[in-house]
Amino acid sequence: MRRVHTMLQLPKKVEIIEVGPRDGLQNEKNFVPTDVKKEFISALKDAGLKELELTSFVSPKWVPQMGDAAEIVADCLDSTSRNIVLAPNKKGIERVYMTDCKAVAVFVGVSNSFNQKNINKTTAESLSEVLPLISELKAKDYFVRACISTAFYCPYEGKVEEDDVLALCGEFVKVGVDELSVADTIGMAAPHESYSLFSKLKDAFPDVLMTAHFHDTRKLALANILAALQAGVTRFDTSAGGLGGCPFAPGAAGNAATEDVVYLLHRMGIGTGVDLGELLKAVEVIRPHISRPIESTYFRLNSVSV
Ligand code: HMG
Ligand code: MG
Repeated sequence: MRRVHTMLQLPKKVEIIEVGPRDGLQNEKNFVPTDVKKEFISALKDAGLKELELTSFVSPKWVPQMGDAAEIVADCLDSTSRNIVLAPNKKGIERVYMTDCKAVAVFVGVSNSFNQKNINKTTAESLSEVLPLISELKAKDYFVRACISTAFYCPYEGKVEEDDVLALCGEFVKVGVDELSVADTIGMAAPHESYSLFSKLKDAFPDVLMTAHFHDTRKLALANILAALQAGVTRFDTSAGGLGGCPFAPGAAGNAATEDVVYLLHRMGIGTGVDLGELLKAVEVIRPHISRPIESTYFRLNSVSV
């Protein structure tokens, strides 16, 4: 086989969006005390993370773990970070309006079956509810991010078509979202699929922030991140400790671990602004309150407690 001589094309700097307090905790059955969540968020900020998903304004009947969203937001906003909260519908956005939070993430699945399980609506029904809400948020000068679930595979329908992902993203771009966070919800994408989809997304939507969100079910998240970097993506959602998973996506494991991603990026000379030593302290804050061991390689090799 012919050897390819091209050097890796790498950026100098990457933005990490820490989703541990939201994606990382939403799947935990035992309620994590609100004060511990706040301490976790504070420790993550101390580690240099500047964009974070703090919590979700979803139904507490569906996701009891996020029942303390208003309390988290009341105490965890600051002016030097982008503090994002998730909201799935009008009621969620109304709850956001009652806070001082100015960055909102809506979430919709490309596949109908997943969207039904996650939000109790078809994808089209969700869109007709959230698109006008996004226009309203933009008119009020909010930062809006659209999280696109099941962009590669659906746990119920299997492979998802790239054209369907591009079409759905286009709907959000039309109403002026600032960011698209495109997700491999069940951690099934392979690097060639990551490269292909993110290349097309970057070409189609050059003016929005493009973020990749990989779950690490099959241990391909780092490979998928490297492939997305090659496609020009410079923003990644990650979760400290590799926590995470969606309660309505059977088989989904945690997100790519922030510490493993940051380690990889630093080893390649790419800046993130994250201090790995401080990040391990944040993982230590949350570790005693979660139901499974921390499986990230960087934590296993470097934490003093293991
Ligand atoms: P529903 O039962 O169809 O809602 O749930 P409804 O509109 O019929 O309302 C039923 C009750 O819920 C009413 O209260 C509403 O007021 C209340 P009642 O009259 O019975 O007392 N309600 C709410 N309460 C608080 N906050 C709200 C809200 N909305 C309605 N926002 C709903 C529909 C969307 C609410 C529900 O399905 C839900 O909360 N789903 C959220 C599921 C979730 O959090 N999933 C995980 C986040 S997404 C994710 O992880 C993927 C991501 O990481 C990317 C990836 O990896 O793919 C982002
Ligand atoms: Mg997720």
